[in-house]
Amino acid sequence: MARKKFIAGNWKMNTTADEAAALAKAVAEAVGKVTDVDVAVCPPYVNLPAVAEAIKGSNVKLGAQDLHWEEKGAFTGKISAAMLKSVGVTCVIIGHSEQRQYFGETDETVNKKTKAALAAGLLPIVCVGETLEERESGKMDAVIDRQTRGAFNGISAAEAAKCVVAYEPVWAIGTGKTATSQQANEAHIFIRNILTELFGKDTAGGIRIQYGGSMKPDNAKELLAQSDVDGGLIGGAALKAADFAGIVQPK
Ligand code: PGA
Repeated sequence: MARKKFIAGNWKMNTTADEAAALAKAVAEAVGKVTDVDVAVCPPYVNLPAVAEAIKGSNVKLGAQDLHWEEKGAFTGKISAAMLKSVGVTCVIIGHSEQRQYFGETDETVNKKTKAALAAGLLPIVCVGETLEERESGKMDAVIDRQTRGAFNGISAAEAAKCVVAYEPVWAIGTGKTATSQQANEAHIFIRNILTELFGKDTAGGIRIQYGGSMKPDNAKELLAQSDVDGGLIGGAALKAADFAGIVQPK
């Protein structure tokens, strides 16, 4: 099944408002007219309005890096799906390994956040991936299986069809160590097989699986050429418009 590639920039905790606006503008200039690849940028919460303004009229979509699952109320420091929607957000990263590692994200909270995003009509980008220790001790499959099933627990095939998965091996994030295209594709096929078990072949065949972890202009082409690599979730290289553009349209 043909799946449209989807490249999203995860800016993490980088950029002030001015820097975010300038970067977003440069991204919109570089790839704002691209139609054969979906493109999104995910700045820090406070810079969402500035980035929304900067990408206006371009094809670049606005994403957030997290959300809270409750609709509103006494949850100091948290941001709801409706708040994100109200400033123009259309997609949201959920369960990033940094959230899991530093901020207590669990399979259960990933699941709640995914449901909240879907209920609000946001496109969830659900992150899964193993650490180096898990890979080296042979636990990789079990970890990815648990994370994937956990994220989609209680979600229907129709709802799952509105999700994107990002495979991000933790050992490749920000380290300059990329999974080989073969390692990435094997993991993507493994994830798609789980999705097939859960939702059937047609639905699973339509779900896009992004690769994330030191993806750069010079390795993007080969990674994106793999049968089951349907895009990228880009950290470091998303902070320079030229590098990001070089991944959206690799030479
Ligand atoms: P990286 O980050 O591209 O800097 O490795 C990817 C991510 O964490 O989404």
